[in-house]
Amino acid sequence: MSKHGFEEKALPFSTYFCPGRVNLIGEHIDYNGGFVLPAAISLGTKLHIRRRDDAVISIQSTNFDGNYLLWPNEENSYNAQNRWANYAIGCIELLRQKGVEMHGYDMLFESDLPIGSGLSSSASVEVVTLFALLSEEKISTYSKQDIALMAREVENNFIGVSCGIMDQFAVAMGKENHAIKLNCETLEYEYIPADFGEYTLVIINTNKPRSLIHSAYNQRLAECQEALAIINKKHNYTNLCSVPLAVAEAELTGVLLQRARHCITEQQRVLTACNALKEGNMGVFRQQLSDSHLSLLNDYEVTGFELAMLWYHSTGMGVTCRMTGAGFGGCAIALVRPEMVEEYKSYITTHYHAATAQHYIKKGSNQEPLTPTFYECKIVNGVGLQA
Ligand code: GLA
Repeated sequence: MSKHGFEEKALPFSTYFCPGRVNLIGEHIDYNGGFVLPAAISLGTKLHIRRRDDAVISIQSTNFDGNYLLWPNEENSYNAQNRWANYAIGCIELLRQKGVEMHGYDMLFESDLPIGSGLSSSASVEVVTLFALLSEEKISTYSKQDIALMAREVENNFIGVSCGIMDQFAVAMGKENHAIKLNCETLEYEYIPADFGEYTLVIINTNKPRSLIHSAYNQRLAECQEALAIINKKHNYTNLCSVPLAVAEAELTGVLLQRARHCITEQQRVLTACNALKEGNMGVFRQQLSDSHLSLLNDYEVTGFELAMLWYHSTGMGVTCRMTGAGFGGCAIALVRPEMVEEYKSYITTHYHAATAQHYIKKGSNQEPLTPTFYECKIVNGVGLQA
């Protein structure tokens, strides 16, 4: 930590940590009122924060250049030039709108989460910002769940991504060695021990540069809303996941039927997977993960070549793998036997590199072949003050 003179001035400061998350299963159904099963991971965002004598908030990161200065008790709006700092600025603005009067602070973010790779780096920044500022201001009226909802509001209204509640909830409410079975319609939740028996959870980053992901994401949301509206001309379902498959098949065709079928069957897979995890039935659990990936590939169409290759080569080795997060690149998760982890990494690296090389040449693209990155994370508690 070298920026902001945090150590040079030798003044006391506090450090807060918010994890990232993986989603074990239940993809693209949080914004459709479905069940999801995420877990908070040991990769995350630290926020070092110290009160200033003036009324200015200064935002820096060890990962990026730039020092963003703002007056927290005046209106601040989204500005593309503020790049990543918009996630923190949006939180400060939301607190102002809620009537929180803030002091000036030096804030230094430090993240070991790969940025924009589907492990919720933005939710992690938002939740740690809200939690730290409320703690420093000694405001205890907001629970961690309230903070998750506020972070989602920032993402929806300040950043402009119409995401569901899964990411913010997972990173705020995570529990060590547990996944969270979350009902995204009611926000009822249950912690389920994340015990994968004879398997280790490995996260694989496709390292695919992602673009246009927000518009593709918002398009899926619009398609799901349209599908539910058509079904509800004759029925009265509160969310797409709760529609019986036969009803969707009777009312929808084409792409809308595909999207609805994913949501309906994914919800079933989440419930089956939760029971299997509780019972330690890894065969059934692994099957749900694999089927989930295929549904995201065929019906929801959010995988793309790179994630498809990770799935294909993992499956070829007998390893269960699925994309996690929004897709279109980003990360996948795999359940690997500990003694096979090194062999798995090297096999996937070789075959993924070769497959992407061939693919980009065929497409006539200038994109360099990709090398995946692997993370073996612990499952940890949600946001908090670091000891
Ligand atoms: C992103 C969004 C989440 C969720 C996932 C897909 O991570 O932020 O709300 O929709 O994609 O499951």
